[in-house]
Amino acid sequence: MPDPARPADPTDRRVIAMMNQKGGVGKTTTTVNVGAAMAAAGARVLLIDLDPQAHLTLSVGMEPGEMDRTNYDLFVDEGTTAMEVVREVESIANLAVLPAETNLAGIESEMAESVQAGTGQSILRDKCVDLFRQFDAVLIDCPPALGLLTVNALCAATEVIVPMQSHFLAMQGMSKLFETIGSVRQGINPTLRVSGVVLCMHEANTLLAGEIRAELDGFFGQAGEGDAWHQAEVFDPPVRRNIKLAEAPSFGQPVLAYAPESNGAADYRKLAASILGAGRAAETPDAAPQPRGSEQARG
Ligand SMILES: Nc1ncnc2c1ncn2[C@@H]1O[C@H](COP(=O)(O)OP(=O)(O)OP(=O)(O)O)[C@@H](O)[C@H]1O
Ligand SMILES: [Mg+2]
Repeated sequence: MPDPARPADPTDRRVIAMMNQKGGVGKTTTTVNVGAAMAAAGARVLLIDLDPQAHLTLSVGMEPGEMDRTNYDLFVDEGTTAMEVVREVESIANLAVLPAETNLAGIESEMAESVQAGTGQSILRDKCVDLFRQFDAVLIDCPPALGLLTVNALCAATEVIVPMQSHFLAMQGMSKLFETIGSVRQGINPTLRVSGVVLCMHEANTLLAGEIRAELDGFFGQAGEGDAWHQAEVFDPPVRRNIKLAEAPSFGQPVLAYAPESNGAADYRKLAASILGAGRAAETPDAAPQPRGSEQARG
């Protein structure tokens, strides 16, 4: 059977950085569960934990202290290859991870020299070129900061998705975030684009949630062709607040394995499908998104 999740040409592989410098908005939850849902739909998926908190690594059942090699080694040791760091996730087939450890926190200071020499930003991309060829999609969990690790994610990525909590001050910091993406696009990664926003821990039907969504639609609608977020959208569905999503990490499992019947699993399955669909629309000019005006009418 042809695999709908698999791109026709391996160079169409999507490398998605889940980025927001705000803490606790749902980046890791979205990376793990969108990745698991894409894998369950037949794609071969790689998750990359670029956060020294190592929450993604823990969330897929790995102990950060118990691994031979992690992303820390990938960054600081020239001889370490991505093939030596990558591991399969036990609870979900087709899902692999480049794990992190808390010592990743030292990267910024340990790598000051290579940053000054201008070589520190593309380490992830350079080290992972061969590994990425084995996957249909790569999802990178960024730390809540705009430093070297996030810049490495942006350099390796083809696109950015911004997980966001639809609450008061959600939009605060967005201009700094888009500025960072813009400068990476002007420098090291000219084709980088923002494909959209995922609304996490969503309280449906609240006035605030509606306002934030309208604000985002308006912001993306006003983007010029040169902006990285020119074709960005608010992905459907928003992810509802669901206790199973908060419980699953302590069992070391994506929600699809921990509570497959939960609302959390249902939302992430649908979200993964719409993210995969958005990628296909971007590749096929005929299937280009409708003009913004029609999208604003969406519920
Ligand atoms: N839809 C949801 N319903 C309930 N709890 C959620 C939901 N999404 C995320 N959480 C919980 O909220 C907390 C923050 O989520 P998460 O760790 O994914 O955010 P983050 O942006 O990765 O945080 P950080 O910036 O610290 O890396 C976690 O405890 C997570 O389990
Ligand atoms: Mg996180």
